[in-house]
Amino acid sequence: MRNFTSVNDICDLKKALDEAFEIKADRFKYSELGKNKTLMMVFFNSSLRTRLSTQKAALNLGMNVIVLDINQGAWKLETERGVIMDGDKPEHILEAIPVMGSYCDVIGVRSFARFENKEDDYNEVILNQFIKYSGRPVFSMEAATRHPLQSFADLITIEEHKTKPRPKVVLTWAPHPKALPQAVPNSFAEWMNAADYDFVITHPKGYELDPAFVGNARVEYDQMKAFEGADFVYAKNWAAYTGDNYGKVLSTDRDWTVSERQMAVTNNAYFMHCLPVRRNMIVTDDVIESERSLVIPEAANREISATVVLKNILEGLK
Ligand code: CP
Repeated sequence: MRNFTSVNDICDLKKALDEAFEIKADRFKYSELGKNKTLMMVFFNSSLRTRLSTQKAALNLGMNVIVLDINQGAWKLETERGVIMDGDKPEHILEAIPVMGSYCDVIGVRSFARFENKEDDYNEVILNQFIKYSGRPVFSMEAATRHPLQSFADLITIEEHKTKPRPKVVLTWAPHPKALPQAVPNSFAEWMNAADYDFVITHPKGYELDPAFVGNARVEYDQMKAFEGADFVYAKNWAAYTGDNYGKVLSTDRDWTVSERQMAVTNNAYFMHCLPVRRNMIVTDDVIESERSLVIPEAANREISATVVLKNILEGLK
């Protein structure tokens, strides 16, 4: 593997899952693979799980780790080419990226959608500049349109808990006071489609995702109907994608908050969310604290998904 930005970078999903379970059984099995190799993690946005789990994964593989928070202590970066740099940004990303590449062997990048320009977000302009100019393998630690390390961990978690080959998985929109990117639901949809589960997406009208990510999923606007017989419920907020509403909050309707009311019509479904989560906006206390909540095992599996991905990238360096 050279770069990891989506499920399309995984050649064989079954093999990747086998590797995940192998690593989960012995997470230090490949502790020599990363000796004298350095991972640089570059954050344009905040993180708890991605920062810690990816560092832990690198340590499992024997790597050294450097972390750069662009907004804390680094020079502010200009990202547009052709700009006269007479403002508050003293460094251009076109110099910064190859400099970062000169200090490491692998680069992880977190760069969310900015909601300033849909085309720039959906063209992944920041992530792709790292791929183009760093000279190093690059993996996404959540970019503008996808969060593949999260989705891989979600898939591992479902595989560990499913009781039938093709469980019913429901991705539901839930309310949030701020505009959040579509990266997690886009990516989750992509991985669920690749796993060929019985996959349903439910959201209020106006929250349609990019059809390229929806793929073969069924879209159901009636949340209660969507939840009927579900084996897994995955809640997430996202801002509108379509037309002039791109990046806007169209609803904060708390009827969509996942509660015992909706969970009662499921097949005793497991509850999932990538975290961080706003309680009693996205999900009630009772549901997230229930025995069927997988939010902590899901987060724990981030270490496993990151170890598999870094292992494959390191093997590609040889
Ligand atoms: N789920 C996730 O990516 O969490 P962080 O934003 O805390 O990294």
